[in-house]
Amino acid sequence: MPKSLHLDRFQLGVCYYPEHWPEELWADDFRRMRELGFSVIRVAEFAWSIFEPAEGTFSFDLFDRAIDLAHAHGLHVILGTPTATPPAWLTHAYPEVLNVSQAGIQYQHGQRRHYNYNAPIYRDLSARIVRALARHYGSHPAVVGWQIDNELNCEVNVFYSAADQVAFRAWLQQRYVGSLDQLNRAWGTVFWNQTYTDWAQVKLTGPTPSDSPNPHQALDEKRFFSDSAIAFACMQADILRELAPNQWITTNGLFGHLDSHKLTEEALDFFSYDSYPNFSTIFPDQGPAPLLDRRWSWNLSMARAISPHFCVMEQQSGPGGWTNRMAQPAPKPGQMRLWTYQSIAHGADMVLYFRWRTATIGTEIYWHGINDYHNRPNRRVEEAAQIGRELEIIGQRLVATHTSAHVALVGDYDNEWDGELDSWHGPYMRQSTLAWFAALQYQHIPVDALSMRPTTTLDDIAKYRVLVYPHPAILTDATADLLSDYVRQGGAIVFGARTGYKDATGQCPMRPFPGAVADLCGITVADFTRIGPHESAPTLRWRSSDGPDITAEAFNDVLQVEAGSVEVLAEYAGSYYAGAPALVRNSVGHGSAYYYGAVFNVDAATALIAQLGLAAPVGDWLELPQPVELCIRARSDSGERLIFLLNYSAANQTVTLHKEATDALSGAQLSGSIQLEPFGVRILAETGESVAARF
Ligand code: GAL
Repeated sequence: MPKSLHLDRFQLGVCYYPEHWPEELWADDFRRMRELGFSVIRVAEFAWSIFEPAEGTFSFDLFDRAIDLAHAHGLHVILGTPTATPPAWLTHAYPEVLNVSQAGIQYQHGQRRHYNYNAPIYRDLSARIVRALARHYGSHPAVVGWQIDNELNCEVNVFYSAADQVAFRAWLQQRYVGSLDQLNRAWGTVFWNQTYTDWAQVKLTGPTPSDSPNPHQALDEKRFFSDSAIAFACMQADILRELAPNQWITTNGLFGHLDSHKLTEEALDFFSYDSYPNFSTIFPDQGPAPLLDRRWSWNLSMARAISPHFCVMEQQSGPGGWTNRMAQPAPKPGQMRLWTYQSIAHGADMVLYFRWRTATIGTEIYWHGINDYHNRPNRRVEEAAQIGRELEIIGQRLVATHTSAHVALVGDYDNEWDGELDSWHGPYMRQSTLAWFAALQYQHIPVDALSMRPTTTLDDIAKYRVLVYPHPAILTDATADLLSDYVRQGGAIVFGARTGYKDATGQCPMRPFPGAVADLCGITVADFTRIGPHESAPTLRWRSSDGPDITAEAFNDVLQVEAGSVEVLAEYAGSYYAGAPALVRNSVGHGSAYYYGAVFNVDAATALIAQLGLAAPVGDWLELPQPVELCIRARSDSGERLIFLLNYSAANQTVTLHKEATDALSGAQLSGSIQLEPFGVRILAETGESVAARF
């Protein structure tokens, strides 16, 4: 069972930093939060030196007063453990806790996340502050839960301190059961004379000519970084469970080199995500129809894959900006509300805005909160009040509903980490996943994210009609068996180029591509090539009827049919392999396996969506324009569906209802054409009877 947030009504709130403000402001702040409909605040995640101003000297006064006052105003409190920012006395006395870059440069005090997870003294001092906090607040009536640290692996997700070198060797000795021979084999060290003859020689990757470390070592290193973060979180979670057993535990992610599924299983009660869609204004996705802020729906889907009901611990409310980077335009009127409902529509049952008031000090003076420096009414406060009023109306109904999808986009941590270094599959995975997500979004087809893990079972995947696993270069026999069972019992799976040519060490076994799924797909790869920068990719020629014009992008596997059950759907129309199969479908049991020899773009995904017979679940009565996202949260008992319509464009959009539905916020009956204002949101309620009547 995935770990999930369980609430009986929706909770809205805000991140608050009492230590940043004169105490005279607190009561007014809390009063106004309640007026906005907020019921929860998160505090203290960077406040170590307030709690422990000198080593071993503890002081809870400031937060006691703040938390008691919040309680008196009827606010719940989430407490952060403050380990993301070790105090200056700590890093000065114990510089070995500082993280070190791959080039060997030690980070210094002055920002945050400057520590490493493995220095024994940091573990001890972290355990001590967490224990002190848990003892002190473990039964405080206002404190409902804990956030461990803050954004593990944010800012920097690689660690090369002396403590990490020691811990890496211990981790490897466990992984390779103390056998250097096994390690040498797994890392292929015979290549370029890297063979290790003593454990003391084994290290994390260092600076190498051309920045090209041993790829197998680099993959293990990322697994190690992830396990280090998880062990650090578990250390804290164990203390919290012992001393604060009635309060829940979470942390806020999603960051690189961290298996957030395993983290949640081992340390948390549920997962939390921090949603900052305005990053799309400075890091936009490219292409003819970029998703921009709508792309955060994919991130939220990944959070939902970890915890079906989750918390958004930080929801962007204002323009972002540090003093020296991430400078963003202000969210337009309506966008803060849009992004809040984006989170909710994708499974968030608790949302806290970042942050109550813009900081007047420090690196984040341009990271704007709901209130401005001047602390007077502004449009963001007004927008928050509107959201608060709306969630009063639907907050209880919401938490009883769940999202569902017939299709899942599959990925996995090994390929993500291996693909960071390996340009022969990593960039393809990112491109194809986004292309599929965009194609499904634009056709209003809900989609889940699914992480393929050694523990994934047939039950986990059998609920999907279609799985798209774009480029799993690393693909074990066990996963191939699971996917074959899935297909035999009626599922459809789609693979793209470069599938199945690596094993779990990242080595390429002497076996025809696509390796472990060659039988499932009924093909082998006879030849393959990247499309060079000065070449144009061939188009597809459909074998039966006329199909859409599609460019077989980036990489071409030239397919060879190996089984009678295979149907060639399209062939390459150009290059030296013109006429060779490019897209095939193999019928296996009750299902089918598709193999596409190239990297997916939106056109290729759209064509396959049609092949697979996927369609919008409300397509028979609701006409939606492309800029409007459709999300559905349904009750499993009554069948009631809440249908979220989210307009990401700065223009009015027309939605047409071919039957009546209720506006869940106003109660009005709607039918025919309705307008969604720029960045507007509508939530339609469809009762169980009207859903049932259509099936
Ligand atoms: C998050 C972080 C917050 C704040 C925010 C804006 O990543 O958790 O503490 O820094 O970004 O930069």
